[in-house]
Amino acid sequence: MNTSLPKLANDASALEILRAGIEAANGPVSLACSFSMEDVAIIDIAHQAGLTLGVFALDTGRLNEETYEVAEALVERYRLKIDWYFPRHEDVQKLEGAEGLFSFRESLDKRQACCAIRKIEPLSRALKGLAGWVTGMRREQSVTRTDLSVIETDELNGGILKINPLLDWSEAQLVSYTEEQRLPKNRLYSQGYRSIGCAPCTRAVKPGEDARAGRWWWENAKNKECGLHRR
Ligand code: ADX
Ligand code: SF4
Repeated sequence: MNTSLPKLANDASALEILRAGIEAANGPVSLACSFSMEDVAIIDIAHQAGLTLGVFALDTGRLNEETYEVAEALVERYRLKIDWYFPRHEDVQKLEGAEGLFSFRESLDKRQACCAIRKIEPLSRALKGLAGWVTGMRREQSVTRTDLSVIETDELNGGILKINPLLDWSEAQLVSYTEEQRLPKNRLYSQGYRSIGCAPCTRAVKPGEDARAGRWWWENAKNKECGLHRR
């Protein structure tokens, strides 16, 4: 696929980015939804503007109950259809049989092996047939995300478009939008979580700590990507 990237003003709104990305993709586009505040805001923005945007979620098998509660709240509020993708059961059986249930704590390689089975392989199935995908990534989340673009070509996933409409939103802006629109919000945020992934690899952060300090907290900040957003 070789889609040309739309030109956007530096201060384009999330809706303008989303709309331009969907138009440029010129085919099916879906949001990768982890039920974070970011992803819920994107669903709301698309819904209010009447944009056609699919939603898929990767159920790693290790998500928090609180995350599933957000999914159900969204189904109810927007009559949302979520396409769930699961890891291949034979891969999970092999991993857990050989390595146990917490091998991801033992080394970076083992952590990446678990993410590969539970997230990356299912992502490759979720992206099949799409002309573009949308994520809730924000630049300030991580040193690994500072140089992203709001709309880019995803070379590692067949050259489809990758649209990051909230890239330049701050956490405060996101919280205000969530409150103003009274959006469903994962209950873990009120327990000190600021970024939520799989249950055993996420914990609350202390005041003053980095927002993603609770993700894979035993690892170095520059490794804190699960591979969903490799470039
Ligand atoms: S991660 O790569 O470290 O896990 P993060 O939790 O910051 O990612 O989320 C960034 C974006 O990746 C989300 O806004 C969402 O678009 C996508 N994403 C992360 N986890 C999932 C998931 N389980 N299912 C679908 N999309 C996801
Ligand atoms: Fe496995 Fe943790 Fe990666 Fe989830 S975040 S897929 S449990 S290593």
